[in-house]
Amino acid sequence: MGSKLIAPSILAADFANLQRDIEMVNQSDADWFHIDVMDGHFVPNISYGMPVIKAIKKHAKKPLDVHLMIEKPERYIEEFKKVGADIITVHYESTVHLHRTLSLIENVGCKAGVVLNLTTPVSVLEDILPKCYMVLLMSINPGFGGQKFESMTYSRIKKLRKMINDQNLDTLIEIDGGVNDKNAKQLVDAGSDVLVAGSYIFQSSDQLQTIKNLKALIS
Ligand code: DX5
Ligand code: ZN
Repeated sequence: MGSKLIAPSILAADFANLQRDIEMVNQSDADWFHIDVMDGHFVPNISYGMPVIKAIKKHAKKPLDVHLMIEKPERYIEEFKKVGADIITVHYESTVHLHRTLSLIENVGCKAGVVLNLTTPVSVLEDILPKCYMVLLMSINPGFGGQKFESMTYSRIKKLRKMINDQNLDTLIEIDGGVNDKNAKQLVDAGSDVLVAGSYIFQSSDQLQTIKNLKALIS
């Protein structure tokens, strides 16, 4: 397993000072920008869309990991590529023809991933796993930052890690929701590769140091 990655969630940034917060991530030990797109249908919240992602891309020096919490994400894949997405993840629960949607993502030149809600069994991924650059396991109910981490996530990571190993794949496991210094190491020990963290990073008084500490905990 390669080095473990940190993806600060821009949902928790200060939108009135977005460029400042992007520069902070650029200068930090973080690896990706995690970008949450919510449509008010798939999840009970609306975040931001293409114009904001385009503005982020202008300044970002690290890959954009775009997490789509929208119904029928297949409608917008090309547009998300156009505004700068590098990795696009779609919820298993949001798209009827998952295989076709992942192919769409690959065909526009992005890395493709699947997200599972808390109670969607990891076993549903068995056949689609070879097509996944990454699987994102939600560790909260999606829609809002700042929620409490659900500890059922550990056993879900272990099951998924076993499935990935059994198929001899190098699919990444990303964890999203309630990640902080208390659970980071255990999440990586259970078999995850990428940790998303929003409020833990952006609400801290020294964000660069917080990212550095988080990275040290999982290295
Ligand atoms: C929630 C989003 C998360 C969120 C995480 O639906 O997918 O990425 O920003 O925020 P924290 O780290 O505050 O739980
Ligand atoms: Zn997310």
